[in-house]
Amino acid sequence: MTQVRAPIDRGRFSNKTVFIMAAIGSAVGLGNIWRFPYVAYEGGGGAFILPYLVALLAAGIPLLLLDYAIGHSQRGSAPLSFARLSRRLEFIGWWQVAICVVISVYYAAILAWSVQYVGFSFTQAWGDDPEAFFFTEFLRATENEVTLDFVPAVLIPMVIIWVVAIAVMALGVQRGIGATSVVFIPVLLIAFIALVVQALALPGAIDGLQSLFAPNWAALLDPAVWASAFGQIFFSLSVGFGIMITYASYVGRKIDMTGSGLVVGFANSGFELLAGIGVFSALGFLAQASGAAVADVVADGIGLAFIAFPAIISQAPFGELLGMLFFLSLVLAGFTSLVSILEVVISAVRDKLELGRVGATLVVTVPMAIVSILLFTTTSGILVLDIADHFINRFGILLVALVAMLAVGWAVRRVPSLAEHMSRYGSLKLGRWWIVLVTIVTPALLAVMLGLELITAVSEPYGGFPGWMLAVFGWGTAAAALLAGILLSIPKWRSTTPLEAPEHDEEVIR
Ligand code: ALA
Repeated sequence: MTQVRAPIDRGRFSNKTVFIMAAIGSAVGLGNIWRFPYVAYEGGGGAFILPYLVALLAAGIPLLLLDYAIGHSQRGSAPLSFARLSRRLEFIGWWQVAICVVISVYYAAILAWSVQYVGFSFTQAWGDDPEAFFFTEFLRATENEVTLDFVPAVLIPMVIIWVVAIAVMALGVQRGIGATSVVFIPVLLIAFIALVVQALALPGAIDGLQSLFAPNWAALLDPAVWASAFGQIFFSLSVGFGIMITYASYVGRKIDMTGSGLVVGFANSGFELLAGIGVFSALGFLAQASGAAVADVVADGIGLAFIAFPAIISQAPFGELLGMLFFLSLVLAGFTSLVSILEVVISAVRDKLELGRVGATLVVTVPMAIVSILLFTTTSGILVLDIADHFINRFGILLVALVAMLAVGWAVRRVPSLAEHMSRYGSLKLGRWWIVLVTIVTPALLAVMLGLELITAVSEPYGGFPGWMLAVFGWGTAAAALLAGILLSIPKWRSTTPLEAPEHDEEVIR
């Protein structure tokens, strides 16, 4: 008699609410808080609503629903789901896995700095010069040269973030990811609303809001503004890089996936708007307090969180509270995104090797944690982060999303059957309009945008960094992710892994 292997329980979210919380947790992240306000301001302020809505409705939500459709119908990690659509497409799933490896390694570092800055908000460790403190004292960062000296201040928070993340991942889909999201998302919402209320009460807040919302219609003539709206929506909604495929594979058959997608999409945008209001109120205060124009103090990303906000915290009434709420929000929002990015990798390795939850978690996360900690406790961590983030967002996430849509839509022509799958229990029926969007309109828009990004990347070397650095950490990282995708798709699946999607829920648990 042949020995039958014990089935592997892939795990699943216990109900629709937990799934929606986890999906919102993934979507709402650093991108919402520290990127959206600046992208909107630069992209025409109030006028940015136009490219933003076009990007959300014509590309973001349709692609989110495509991700859901792939994961929910094929019931596998990104590589297994693509392999089930066609073995030829498996590399797309692994390419997404490789992109997630890169993102997690630096995303964890930003969370670690934020953890440290929750404490600094009380001591105002940055003194009079937050910029010099952040780069020189805290990170001991080098400029335009790579040195690998040890930076002890970052070590403890990095270890904390990774240990907590590994523990959550080891607990599994429901008890780890689901439970964390159900607790963190409401806490995040309360903390962030408190932050917005406090920021709105600061003198100068109105000036900040006027700068954010005053429409500059001329900005809409600039193709780069449209490109940035698409980039923002993709990163912020967590679409196109395997996350939503993976999460949807853990949802019961009869759940309304299209309705859930709309809830997630609009919740994410609602949070972005809230972040815009909070951040620009605070920047308005900073401008007034320092006698400058709002335009002189606006910043995004690292500049906003670790330079502008510390300056605001030092000068605002109850600044410690404002700082605590801001950095706590970054940690909560970022953590639920980090776990979703890690899950793409763990789920893929689990499916391929048929490992148990804890085994797969350790095999995947321990090496990633070591690389992340080693890299970001050196003086050049932030430099690598800056370049890798810029390139992997464009020539990783956007490119793989385009390839995935073309492959599923044109090479294997599965979009109509995916539409049917989603419409069976979905409150929003995916008709011809959706098929046209994901096979023609969204890929065409994405292709134009990527073309624009490519022209910019070649004509204006990013951030003024030396060419070799951009080649290694930027182009090199993006190309390595694609190569890894192709190589990882070569080994065969185990004979016990069915390469066609299971028809019933019970079979989801192999
Ligand atoms: N969607 C996540 C963010 O916005 C990755 O940061």
